[in-house]
Amino acid sequence: MSAPVSSDRPFLNRRLAAFGTTIFAEMSALAARTGSINLGQGFPDTDGPAEIAEAASRAVLTGLGNQYPPGPGVPELRTAVAAHQQRFYGLAYDPDTEVLVTAGATEAIAAALLALLEPGDEVIALEPYYDSYAACIAMAGAVRVPVTLRPYAGGFTLDLDELRAAVTPRTRLLLLNTPHNPTGTVLTREELSAVAALAVERDLLVVTDEVYEHLVFEGSHTPLAGFPGMRERTVTISSAGKTFSFTGWKVGWVTAPPELVTAVRSAKQFLTYVSSGPFQYAIAQALALPDAYYEDFRADLAAKRDLLADGLAAAGFEVYRPQGTYFITTDITPLGEKDGLAFCRALPERCGVVAIPNQVFYDDKSAGATQVRWAFCKRTDVLREAVSRLRRL
Ligand SMILES: Cc1ncc(COP(=O)(O)O)c(C=O)c1O
Repeated sequence: MSAPVSSDRPFLNRRLAAFGTTIFAEMSALAARTGSINLGQGFPDTDGPAEIAEAASRAVLTGLGNQYPPGPGVPELRTAVAAHQQRFYGLAYDPDTEVLVTAGATEAIAAALLALLEPGDEVIALEPYYDSYAACIAMAGAVRVPVTLRPYAGGFTLDLDELRAAVTPRTRLLLLNTPHNPTGTVLTREELSAVAALAVERDLLVVTDEVYEHLVFEGSHTPLAGFPGMRERTVTISSAGKTFSFTGWKVGWVTAPPELVTAVRSAKQFLTYVSSGPFQYAIAQALALPDAYYEDFRADLAAKRDLLADGLAAAGFEVYRPQGTYFITTDITPLGEKDGLAFCRALPERCGVVAIPNQVFYDDKSAGATQVRWAFCKRTDVLREAVSRLRRL
């Protein structure tokens, strides 16, 4: 008989020990158990356009993508991604060498960080951060250096001096996210320009997560790759999940110069190899939808933002009205509360609504202790009901 597995060593390795189960699992289970309205996890409760769902179903039935698609993604989708970057931002990418299709933005983030980092490299990431960033930096053996977005004038702001001071000789990469989850901040052109100048000056790689690119409520999205000196050092990540309300299809992509795409693909091929065959064809069609689709999508979410933001303010929260994404961050201090985690755990019993405590997105837990995040990518009647329940507070 073989020796039993040693019990004095935990199964989960040290790099991932801090990442047990996510807060989303805990809060979604709580929502299910208590029959609460789940404004925790960020997925829409209505599917995207019927014609795109039909395109996916047609692809399956006509044998498009039912077998392993090409490693870089099907040509139709790569061409559509390149056309999208040109159409919305005037950025030219070669669909054959500068576009890579991934299993959602999540795989793009993982593959980019695993490909581009050596153990010990420092990565600067905006805090609060999307939870997979910390885990992927850890899996790469790299070191996370957070730069905290601070509440300012009803929103959040990036302290450019703090960002500059965070760069050391070991810094390899800036990991950006705009529009930003969970704060809803959209970095201004001045902030992006300063980030770009810093990256060029210190010769840093940049990975920028722009999955909420079509959810900017005032003005429009400005990709970091468009700033001087940035195209050659920037890996831009996006995904169909948020823009087309098909989060389960997991179709994402990377645009970057050929050497960076090749590096990211080297890691990606050993993660999923390929994914989402038939959905890739459908998303190629989705990206080519007329401007009216994108405008209506944004207008719909802007109205939902206003509905929930006003409701949260009426319930007594301090509201940081988001400029982008489908999340609202609030502060619970005016309600006499101090601990977002305890507040969120008690909220379903108190009024039948689930939200996410932002402190899980911080290294500096105290910086986010009183913040709570709410998703508004839900049907209007659901948001109205949530607002009415929150009045009980
Ligand atoms: C900032 C950010 N990046 C990436 C993702 C994941 O995207 P995908 O579902 O395409 O993997 C999310 C999803 O919530 C997100 O908020």
